[in-house]
Amino acid sequence: MRAYDIIQKKRDGGVVDEDQLRFLIDGLLSGLVSDYQLTAFLMAVYFRGMNEGEVTALTRVMLHSGIVVDLAGVRGIKVDKHSTGGVGDKISLPLAPAVAACGVPVPMISGRGLGHTGGTLDKLESIPGFRVDLPLPDYQRLVREVGCCLIGQTKEVAPADKRLYALRDVTATVDCIPLIASSIMSKKLAEGIDALVLDVKVGSGAFMKTTTSARQLAQTMVAIGAGMGKRMVARLTAMDEPIGRFVGNALEVKESLDVLEGKGPKDTVALTVELGAEMLVLGGVAKDIDDGRVRIARCLQDGSARERFGRIIEAQHGDRRVLDDRSLLPAAPGRLDVKAARKGRVVAVDSEGVGIASMVLGGGRARAEDRVDHRVGLEIHVRLGDVVEAGQPLVTLHHADVGVDDAVARIQRAYVVDDRGLSVTPAALFGERIAS
Ligand code: URA
Repeated sequence: MRAYDIIQKKRDGGVVDEDQLRFLIDGLLSGLVSDYQLTAFLMAVYFRGMNEGEVTALTRVMLHSGIVVDLAGVRGIKVDKHSTGGVGDKISLPLAPAVAACGVPVPMISGRGLGHTGGTLDKLESIPGFRVDLPLPDYQRLVREVGCCLIGQTKEVAPADKRLYALRDVTATVDCIPLIASSIMSKKLAEGIDALVLDVKVGSGAFMKTTTSARQLAQTMVAIGAGMGKRMVARLTAMDEPIGRFVGNALEVKESLDVLEGKGPKDTVALTVELGAEMLVLGGVAKDIDDGRVRIARCLQDGSARERFGRIIEAQHGDRRVLDDRSLLPAAPGRLDVKAARKGRVVAVDSEGVGIASMVLGGGRARAEDRVDHRVGLEIHVRLGDVVEAGQPLVTLHHADVGVDDAVARIQRAYVVDDRGLSVTPAALFGERIAS
């Protein structure tokens, strides 16, 4: 077999098989196939696409480039949730303990923030002592004993994805549905799950800006999972403005604690309840989605989800006292209001711009190797459709004297306040549902 022939086949619109994909991916890892050959292949995929069989085969090859965690020792149907990434998306924090408290084990291997999107691991690490780098045997034990464990990708999990993503990142081949779908699914399938709920974001702050592309990504991932015997549900959800009232790591932990205390913003609670309900149905604990909603809402109200979060924090070496004393979480030293320049209605929010504003304050990463400042972020005072007065605060920056002017300018550009009487109808939070 020659890399040249496989590249040529895809370049000319042909269909490649699993052996050929394995030859390329294993060759990349062993050094037998060069980076430039692999990137030529990726570019051919970018233009020619892949059929369902090819995407599933690519996912399988990437999955088996590392180990698949064995969770057979954990009783019950193991269910995870994956979000394709948004701004202010802290849903995993209240969701995972809520679902675990309802009796469904949640193994969750998450990522870090990059660009305008935040990452669950960075949020969790703002809890003093919290460790996301636990070895896999600890992960297996905690899923069994606590019902949930939240860790980062270890080097044993889908190593091919890490190499491939690094190449895609510098060759303009990230935004390609077969490559995104196989990248996400290879990591999720390695967790040892039986079922997966996908939250596919669509809108100004999402990877997928249109419903058509979000639907295609969702269908591709559902087909991959189903092809590997997993129960799959994807929900398309709106990402036209940040989720909740806070963006930034420690700030989002505080907001998640609100949700776990039966409070919190409407959208954040609704996403937790809806995605949680889907997980309970897939996990065989709820008889239908309504029953699932009732169960999740109840465990947010009665303190059992909060208690489970405390157990998870403790098991992962964090300081569980943050549940009762939020002053233990890091806080930024500075505050600055960004105000509306005129009276009018908020008719558009560039969520990606809002996410970048948090990033330039230090709350996110421009490059994978950057460090984040857990203290900083944004407090958002207005939502799409709100009427504001001139001088009214739109957003308060929580800052540490880094990137402030840049963040102010980005927020001013991101919030479009119209004084000509335009109306706006925010998109429904929940869109299509795609199930296996
Ligand atoms: N997230 C991933 O894990 N992989 C991609 O390719 C894109 C987003």
